[in-house]
Amino acid sequence: VCGTNAFNPLCANYTRDTLELVGEPVSGMARCPYDPRHANVAVFADGSLFTGTVTDFLAIDAVIYRSLGDSPALRTVKHDSKWFREPFFVSAVEYGPHIYFFFREMAMEFHHLEKVMVSRVARVCKADLGGSQRVLEKQWTTFLKARLNCSVPGDSHFYFNLLHATSNIIHMQGRDVILGLFSTPPNSIPGSAVCVFDMQQLAHVFEGRFKEQKSPESIWTPVPDEAVPKPRNRNIL
Ligand SMILES: *[C@@H]1O[C@H](CO)[C@@H](O)[C@H](O)[C@H]1NC(C)=O
Ligand SMILES: *[C@@H]1O[C@H](CO)[C@@H](O)[C@H](O)[C@H]1NC(C)=O
Repeated sequence: VCGTNAFNPLCANYTRDTLELVGEPVSGMARCPYDPRHANVAVFADGSLFTGTVTDFLAIDAVIYRSLGDSPALRTVKHDSKWFREPFFVSAVEYGPHIYFFFREMAMEFHHLEKVMVSRVARVCKADLGGSQRVLEKQWTTFLKARLNCSVPGDSHFYFNLLHATSNIIHMQGRDVILGLFSTPPNSIPGSAVCVFDMQQLAHVFEGRFKEQKSPESIWTPVPDEAVPKPRNRNIL
């Protein structure tokens, strides 16, 4: 169990039947937020805890974090908008060898002065060995993210850019799917939609092409296949 503990996050083990405390509580930092209103998603898989939350009081340092298992603790890079830009995590699910995090964040792919929010899915490999230890903690080497496209086609596309909730993975008509509840931003025409994403198609997107931005002023364009890093672990959209 993890809790905000009056702005001092803590985690502790309890027995399931009698709720007795087992061992000493540990810090809840990066496993649960300081404030219950901040993003807080978590899933246990392969003996590790995978969390999507914020690690500080002001909710500036957002993180996808793996901890508590036998593998080394891993995190996303601090204050680097190539990884996240003001994200809010909505859910996390285990699918195959990966954990998928659904969230919304400020877009990077439009003009940088324009504050547009989009929804995305990021995934990490559960068995990631971790890389470059520039700071105290190791970083993910398998982190990738993609935009979630929930839109109505037409002359100009109408997007429901804000993800609010997802279902678990459900089996529907022979496919593993996840349902997402989306809306338009508060300052636009009110609207909401439920979009269904096929998990195998989502997984396939991460085997597809990358986008890059040649300079902060240029638009996002596809990376040529020969320039795609191997393993595919560059932190670009
Ligand atoms: C709770 O149990 C897990 C798994 O056995 C262990 O990794 C973790 O250190 C324990 N935490 C505490 C606070 O005792
Ligand atoms: C979203 O999907 C529609 C329909 O498939 C497509 O026409 C549109 O270009 C997509 N938008 C983005 C931003 O990829």
